[in-house]
Amino acid sequence: MRPEELSPRDYYIENLYAREDEGLHAIKQRLVDAGRWGVNIGANEGRMLQMFIKMIQAKKVVEIGTLFGYSGVWIARALPRDGHLFTIERDHVCVRMARNAFEECGVDDRVTLLEGEATDKLLELEKEGPFDVVFIDANKSSYFDYLMWAERNLRSGGLIIADNTLLGGGVTANEKPESCSTRQWTEMRKFNEAISDPRRFDSTILPTSEGLTVAIKS
Ligand SMILES: C[S@@+](CC[C@H](N)C(=O)[O-])C[C@H]1O[C@@H](n2cnc3c(N)ncnc32)[C@H](O)[C@@H]1O
Repeated sequence: MRPEELSPRDYYIENLYAREDEGLHAIKQRLVDAGRWGVNIGANEGRMLQMFIKMIQAKKVVEIGTLFGYSGVWIARALPRDGHLFTIERDHVCVRMARNAFEECGVDDRVTLLEGEATDKLLELEKEGPFDVVFIDANKSSYFDYLMWAERNLRSGGLIIADNTLLGGGVTANEKPESCSTRQWTEMRKFNEAISDPRRFDSTILPTSEGLTVAIKS
């Protein structure tokens, strides 16, 4: 969960590089109204996603965890004309909100929204691979499973990007903190250890407020 107020440093960066247009602002307002603003990535992370996508000229991106489509719009806007985003969401209200957002922001031709459990939808998606980028931003307790899927279904040189990998700081504790469940804590530590393996990935955690892992598949 991101803080509601940006620090002066983050505000400065956002104002220069990651200003929201009307479409993104409208999604933000819906998230605020639903009491869910901050569950999504922030604009600065949206811009980071765009930079990574452009750096490797990604065309096929998978996102696990759509919410209202805020990050999806940032991603879709960084893709070339023949690029495509496959995004997965199990909550029907979120699916409805995200479909509207993709239409309103004019990216619906570049986005396929798959409704259902991520593990089921990822299996269905395998035939569309290999992918250039997998962005993991759903239930923390399955990050390790999503990583295994991503490693199998990414091209060599493709990226895995994952949000919240510091678990609000909780991941650094030697014992499970109150702020997360045992499963979340264990699985996130397992995820971080696996993705830090230099034989499999070139990777690090960018120290955003939530921790954003970026890994290049060997
Ligand atoms: C952190 S939010 C995603 C935020 C979004 N990426 C953004 O930045 O705008 C996580 C979303 O993943 C969905 N989710 C959680 N676990 C899931 C699962 N197992 N399968 C599909 N969707 C899931 C939740 O319903 C929620 O909308």
